[in-house]
Amino acid sequence: MSKLHNKVAIITGGASGIGAATASLFAQEGAKVVLVDLNEEKGKAFEAELKAKGHEALFVKTNITSEEEVASLFKQTVETFGKVDVVFNNAGIGRVHSSHDLEYSEWRNTVNVDLDGVFLVAREALREFLKADGGVIVNTASMYGWVGSPGSAAYNAAKAGVINLTRSLALEYAEKNIRINALAPGFIDTPIIPEESKEVLRSMTPMKRLGQAEEMAKAVLFMASDDSSFMTGNVLTVDGGYTAQ
Ligand SMILES: NC(=O)c1ccc[n+]([C@@H]2O[C@H](COP(=O)([O-])OP(=O)(O)OC[C@H]3O[C@@H](n4cnc5c(N)ncnc54)[C@H](O)[C@@H]3O)[C@@H](O)[C@H]2O)c1
Repeated sequence: MSKLHNKVAIITGGASGIGAATASLFAQEGAKVVLVDLNEEKGKAFEAELKAKGHEALFVKTNITSEEEVASLFKQTVETFGKVDVVFNNAGIGRVHSSHDLEYSEWRNTVNVDLDGVFLVAREALREFLKADGGVIVNTASMYGWVGSPGSAAYNAAKAGVINLTRSLALEYAEKNIRINALAPGFIDTPIIPEESKEVLRSMTPMKRLGQAEEMAKAVLFMASDDSSFMTGNVLTVDGGYTAQ
């Protein structure tokens, strides 16, 4: 039996990278997938690709920082597929910038997407799960939610926030059949990483390679499925050994 048979999964950042790889794997495991992204062109193309393979998929253009758009996303999902079982709360942005001349607007923008947006999606998921019989949330943090690094203060602070948001929400809803865990990826070969940085990031990783989005998807599937049925408030760090150093 497939691991997400007849489940409905919302995947933010679903048009690219880790989100897209996870949407593919979820669909192969029997889920109806709702792809959420700002990038309409990539999102629609990926929706068509999944449908051509015989999967049920829907792209909903949504900015995760908009309360109204996030509410509308859940409404459209329930109208189309009848329910929501799994939310992969994954969309994010990141840019390297020295902190002493980081514009406040850029700080705000990063924290707005990477932490506030994660909260807004989680809040709407909780509202839906409380009406139903529970559900599962997987948030995407980062290994830089555990440890620091130069040039990414806003991103790292937001990702550390995602880790403790995950634990706090998990405890708050543990008795409501709602499980909430997080993924903390290392350096993964997706469009968020500039081509010119890849070599140095490989050399910084103990396994001497970048992770693949498909390797993240397998960890997300574990947390989204009943394979992790007694796990909540946890963070799965998948980083080629980086944070073991
Ligand atoms: N790739 C890595 O090395 C790495 C490492 C640690 C954590 N992460 C995290 O993994 C997640 C996925 O990143 P990725 O590597 O797949 O990058 P990606 O750029 O391929 O995918 C991110 C997607 O999020 C979308 N997005 C950005 N802002 C949005 C918004 N406001 N509303 C809706 N969609 C929005 C983008 O359009 C993009 O399609 C992010 O949260 C990122 O911080 C990535």
